[in-house]
Amino acid sequence: MKPTLLALACCLAACESAASAPRFEPPTLTDLDPDPSVLEVELVAGLATHEYLPGRRADVWAFRDGAVPGSVGTVPGPMIDARVGDRLVVRFRNELPEETTIHWHGLRVPNASDGTPAAQVPVAPGGTYVYETVLTDAGLFWYHPHMHGDVQVERGLYAPIRVRADDGVDAAADRVMVLDDVKLEADGRLSERTDPLDLMLGRQGNVVIVNGRRRATIDVASGSRERWRIVNAANGRYFQLELPGHSFQVIGWDGGLVAEPYEVARLLVAPGERYDVLVELEAEPGTSLGLVTTHYDRGHEIPDPGPIELVSLAVGPRGVAPAPLPSVWGEIAPVPIDGSTPRRSFMLREDDSVPDAPTFTINGEAFPAVTPVEVASGAVEVWQVANEMEMDHPFHLHGMFFQVLDESGAPIDPLGWKDTVNVRRGTTLSFAVRIEPPGRWMFHCHVLEHAERGMMGELRVAAR
Ligand code: C2O
Ligand code: CU
Ligand code: CU
Repeated sequence: MKPTLLALACCLAACESAASAPRFEPPTLTDLDPDPSVLEVELVAGLATHEYLPGRRADVWAFRDGAVPGSVGTVPGPMIDARVGDRLVVRFRNELPEETTIHWHGLRVPNASDGTPAAQVPVAPGGTYVYETVLTDAGLFWYHPHMHGDVQVERGLYAPIRVRADDGVDAAADRVMVLDDVKLEADGRLSERTDPLDLMLGRQGNVVIVNGRRRATIDVASGSRERWRIVNAANGRYFQLELPGHSFQVIGWDGGLVAEPYEVARLLVAPGERYDVLVELEAEPGTSLGLVTTHYDRGHEIPDPGPIELVSLAVGPRGVAPAPLPSVWGEIAPVPIDGSTPRRSFMLREDDSVPDAPTFTINGEAFPAVTPVEVASGAVEVWQVANEMEMDHPFHLHGMFFQVLDESGAPIDPLGWKDTVNVRRGTTLSFAVRIEPPGRWMFHCHVLEHAERGMMGELRVAAR
């Protein structure tokens, strides 16, 4: 009957437009387990190509969905889209020409699934490994290799993990934005050249991308509220987001919703960090808006290139007015600390006396030649991370979240969970942490060139 034909025609039209305009968000991994509370996926890392610039191919290393015959790698890799409480099983296969591991940045995994060479034997070319965990926290996380990270992640191996919860936040769209920059040659290939500035600041890209694309356009409805979950996957670039005429309402950080949302006109996102924000779109139908990144002075006097457009928002007809926001946000108990809580100090240092081979240390030691920090499970500590150097360093701790207390004595609000925090130059950042899961956990600067050149340490947690 006619309705069938009509439906078919609509489907064809939809398929055509889907083919001509690549979708904004990364594809999701296929769930092989019929149980709705188990997400079992097959993930492959291998060689692929990607067009950072339209029509110009780059050879990349990328993740693909191993459950889909003939699938090709994408940048970013396929998203893991799950619900809090789900069990996640990842059957991983390495089709790269070198060994690797996959780290699940921000997920509170058992140590054997943390994906560092301290926690597993690296996966050789052709080898496999099964990562398994329960998704205990809602939020945005991401996965990436934890070996030669400065090279492997830069070549395209990174992808988002969205863990949703019924949090009562009404939004017309729930978008994931994976920010990155790449250093491209004129023909669109990834540059093989490394200069001293790349080593000092992290690979300096000349093209910024969101979800693998430069200046993608997204359709938004005038008057609507959108939720954007943002992660900075760049080796070294700091993004400072601005949307002219609008502000961002920050509702969540790395480890979930904050206790009290707050508004900012500019949102700084350091490498490895995540922010969950709401944007109330005020612009008139028919106009367009550019989400830009503006200059943030992270040190070493890098010049201001002016605003760079990341995404273009095409504002369509008025959408549905959003429902009121919840009155209660993340219910977070402060990590209990007092004057007797042990304090542990970390000093971040950089030495660029040899420009082609800078070194980076924590407490004077360069990974892997480090003395592990040994703690018994259940300990509560205050970590004080001091940065007396000439640039900022984003400090990341595996396996657990912490609560930032203050920056050089000035309190940081609101209460929330972080696993990566920017330690600005000339400051000391303090956070409280309950050290629980047994195992060998890394902490490091998330400028990947720094981590790979020594700025990494190990926390060994003994079971009680
Ligand atoms: Cu996202 Cu140890 O890293
Ligand atoms: Cu991590
Ligand atoms: Cu650093």
